[in-house]
Amino acid sequence: MSFRWHCYPTPLEAAAAAARHLAELLATRLAGNASASFAVSGGSTPRLLFDELLSQPVDWARVHVFWVDERAAPPTHASSNYRLAAEHLLRPARVPEKNIHRVRAELPPEIAAERYRQELAAFFALPVGQPPAFDVMQLGMGADAHTASLFPGEKLLEDRERSAAAVFVEKHAQWRVTLLPGTLRRARASLFLVSGADKAEAVRAVFEEPADPHRYPAQILRGNPGVTWFLDDAAARLLKK
Ligand code: 6PG
Repeated sequence: MSFRWHCYPTPLEAAAAAARHLAELLATRLAGNASASFAVSGGSTPRLLFDELLSQPVDWARVHVFWVDERAAPPTHASSNYRLAAEHLLRPARVPEKNIHRVRAELPPEIAAERYRQELAAFFALPVGQPPAFDVMQLGMGADAHTASLFPGEKLLEDRERSAAAVFVEKHAQWRVTLLPGTLRRARASLFLVSGADKAEAVRAVFEEPADPHRYPAQILRGNPGVTWFLDDAAARLLKK
């Protein structure tokens, strides 16, 4: 099998298990370091995850939160991944403002992307051309096997240089800012939380089809030992047991 994975009867149980795993990853990192960097995704799945994370013993005062991707919208907009995290995690967990590194998605996409690249370069003290290595990264996956905002056929799937970029997502007629493959691959520990029957074929393809990240972007992380998938039974339905 190409990935380490666990499955659970319901989306809530998968989210609770993923939350426990994230808390363990953060605690491990914080045991030997002053802070930990944590990149979160958006969409609908993380809502349950964030709610479950609140019940985990995490020293949020030492966790720096970043985004895997963000929609081109103000932080108050219903589609904002920042807003989802703020409402379900950042505010209730009292994550310090200085630890929140949101994408300035209210700006024009290319400017927002450049500002985010600058913030990543400053925080991680990166040499030019080196992508950041997040300590912990939470990813989702669409029914088309996209992850972050890297959709099938997206030319940015080839970008090995930059940390993040603006991308126009044809499928949603929407600009976004997304981390790029080099950054996704460098995370020390990542988890995918994927639930729902509509994801089952994409999960099967990502796990079992030959490597073709242009067709199945979530395969970007295949072969990376630090990746664990948390699935509900519906999303894992087509996997060879
Ligand atoms: C986003 C996410 C995206 C998400 C998948 C799955 O901004 O939409 O970062 O990559 O993880 O689209 O979304 P759902 O959780 O809504 O199925």
